[in-house]
Amino acid sequence: MQDSPPFRLPNAIETEEALDELLTRPRAALVQFIASVRGPLLILGAGGKMGPSLTLLARRAAEAAQHPLEIIAVSRFSDPNARRWLEARGVQTLSCDLFDAEAVRKLPDAAEILYLVGQKFGTTQSPAGTWAANLLVPARIAERYPAARIVALSTGNVYPLAPVAHGGSVESDPLTPLGEYANATVGRERIFEFFSQRNGTRIVLLRLFYATDLRYGVLRDIAELIWARKPIDLANGHFNCIWQGDANDMVIRSLALATTPVAAFNLTSAEVFSVRTVATRLSQLLGKAVNFTGTESETALTANTAQLRAQLGDPATPLDTMLHWTADWVKRGGRNLGKPTHFEVRDGRY
Ligand SMILES: NC(=O)c1ccc[n+]([C@@H]2O[C@H](COP(=O)([O-])OP(=O)(O)OC[C@H]3O[C@@H](n4cnc5c(N)ncnc54)[C@H](OP(=O)(O)O)[C@@H]3O)[C@@H](O)[C@H]2O)c1
Repeated sequence: MQDSPPFRLPNAIETEEALDELLTRPRAALVQFIASVRGPLLILGAGGKMGPSLTLLARRAAEAAQHPLEIIAVSRFSDPNARRWLEARGVQTLSCDLFDAEAVRKLPDAAEILYLVGQKFGTTQSPAGTWAANLLVPARIAERYPAARIVALSTGNVYPLAPVAHGGSVESDPLTPLGEYANATVGRERIFEFFSQRNGTRIVLLRLFYATDLRYGVLRDIAELIWARKPIDLANGHFNCIWQGDANDMVIRSLALATTPVAAFNLTSAEVFSVRTVATRLSQLLGKAVNFTGTESETALTANTAQLRAQLGDPATPLDTMLHWTADWVKRGGRNLGKPTHFEVRDGRY
């Protein structure tokens, strides 16, 4: 194993290259952990917002550990740039529509799986597509890989809105959310759970709340509204979020938490943040006034992350650092993926 230089956070992130370098630079705990990952490691749904940086992070960690881990990024790659980006960095990719049962049967064998497949936006127009993506694909994968360790991304949307004063939903809370997308994600969890019970497959479910990487995310959305002098709706007045590099690091290290029966963990910041406080800080950093509409509701989608932090430690990137980076990025006109989080939604319609 090579000695990694100390992990220092930059004051500003000026380019996409710098952003990607930071998102894919492994920390010591990950380098140490990845040496124990047997592989092949399949990353399914690798063509979305998180997959490319997560895959390269795993790859760089294995290189730093001098561990010859076989990693394959699988997706339809509807965005060909994601595939090009991975291949240019030496990552093996495989184009596969995971709806296709025959194609799934032909996927390479794997000992470890990071499962990122999901569908959220467009649910109002095409609810059937959302249910199929979130339930059918997990069934195909769980059937295909009964002996693998699986980390399956889930979402905080599995919970209903809960009183902010309670400090965030905990893993044992009832999964009774509002809306078809959220209910389909409960279905995604239940399908994994079913196959784990049936086949003894070791699975961990990670209920992620808002990853943020400057090109997208709830902080970017709030900053963009301030920059465009648009009002910020306070009705959904509280949230959690996590730097995408920290989320990716914890997703990979969660392979160690894959068990039978299935375990579920909330994955996001230790603290619940107030939209009003975050927007006020961003407005200072951006040098622009902020306009609010509405008032904070007593409920919101928020998480208590004590359980996962007890296993993996706290996410490493502080909120104020993310706010500095975000404000600076927006001022520079840094790229926006054009995939807003719709953090203000309270009726479950996406
Ligand atoms: N990012 C967040 O803030 C956040 C928050 C909460 C939960 N999550 C969960 O974390 C996971 C990863 O997040 P993300 O933001 O990267 O999601 P994403 O951008 O939606 O990426 C998921 C990718 O899965 C792939 N996919 C969907 N159907 C497929 C199919 N039939 N066959 C093969 N690939 C398929 C798609 O890529 P192709 O078009 O290339 O197939 C899609 O881009 C998601 O499951 C989401 O539920 C994310």
